[in-house]
Amino acid sequence: MLRTRERAEEIIKLNPEWYHSIELVPGVITPGRCPLEAWEKELANLRLPDLRGKSVLDIGAFDGFFSFAAERLGASRVIALDHYVWFTDRVEWMKEWRKSRETGTPVTPPHETRHWRPDELPGRRPFDAARAILGSQVEPVVGDFMTMDLTSLGRFDVVLFMGILYHLEDPLRAMRRLATVVAPGGLAVIETEAVEVPGLGDAAFCQFFPGQELENDPSNWWSPNAKALMGLCQAAGFREVILLTDPPRSPWRPLGTRLGAAIKHLIFETHIPQRLGYKGNTIAPLPRIRYRAIAHAHP
Ligand SMILES: C[S@@+](CC[C@H](N)C(=O)[O-])C[C@H]1O[C@@H](n2cnc3c(N)ncnc32)[C@H](O)[C@@H]1O
Repeated sequence: MLRTRERAEEIIKLNPEWYHSIELVPGVITPGRCPLEAWEKELANLRLPDLRGKSVLDIGAFDGFFSFAAERLGASRVIALDHYVWFTDRVEWMKEWRKSRETGTPVTPPHETRHWRPDELPGRRPFDAARAILGSQVEPVVGDFMTMDLTSLGRFDVVLFMGILYHLEDPLRAMRRLATVVAPGGLAVIETEAVEVPGLGDAAFCQFFPGQELENDPSNWWSPNAKALMGLCQAAGFREVILLTDPPRSPWRPLGTRLGAAIKHLIFETHIPQRLGYKGNTIAPLPRIRYRAIAHAHP
């Protein structure tokens, strides 16, 4: 394929929906959900090991930003695995999603709509076009990570598991499956939506999203706190887990945590309000702080 500016611009015109920002040729960048610099920063935040000569599996590869980056960084073999967005006609579905966000009405998940077209892979077109113009050897594999035969994939030196944990209905089973595709001495890089609940103490906690509460996306189910993320990795059999991100500090802390905790205790835990005749809800509203967590997990 010609690697010209004109061809790159034509690719973007033909494929208007991009999740990742990818520089197709110098100066022509696909219009992803955030600027290229933000993706580059995220890549740096992953603190990947030297990828030269390594095999890499990118689970939930989407448009392939991280797969192509792994290849550029010298990986000898890169597999980009996905199915969900690749099965979806994203150009049409995103119209419905935007409308739902504007109107506050429920959106139907892609797999329950006519935009779900597994035979045509309409959502893989951006990946395919980027792969072609980049002259990439990244190997796309269509598969549902939760149901496919993982032995057919093999094991990899580095497995990227980014932005996917919270999309999976069964996070512990997902982490166990993840552990099976990491080669001995290898590394799983886990990046996920995460939550911190000030005052929860030492508890491992996952917030559940029954609807489309998180990012207006009905395919988001769970958000772990740091302790739960660590616990999920350990329960899945990873022997060494390093959290690269610190949970954010509560904004309350500097404002007198102790006083706040004492008042909360009086109101919500002593039942004094009930004794005084208050019949309202006594479950303390939990302040939650959203963030993105990154962990390195070694088998
Ligand atoms: C939020 S995007 C993250 C994309 C990319 N990994 C990143 O971090 O920028 C989630 C991706 O996971 C994919 N995905 C969700 N469930 C999956 C499953 N069971 N098997 C394979 N891919 C899945 C989606 O299709 C989508 O491409």
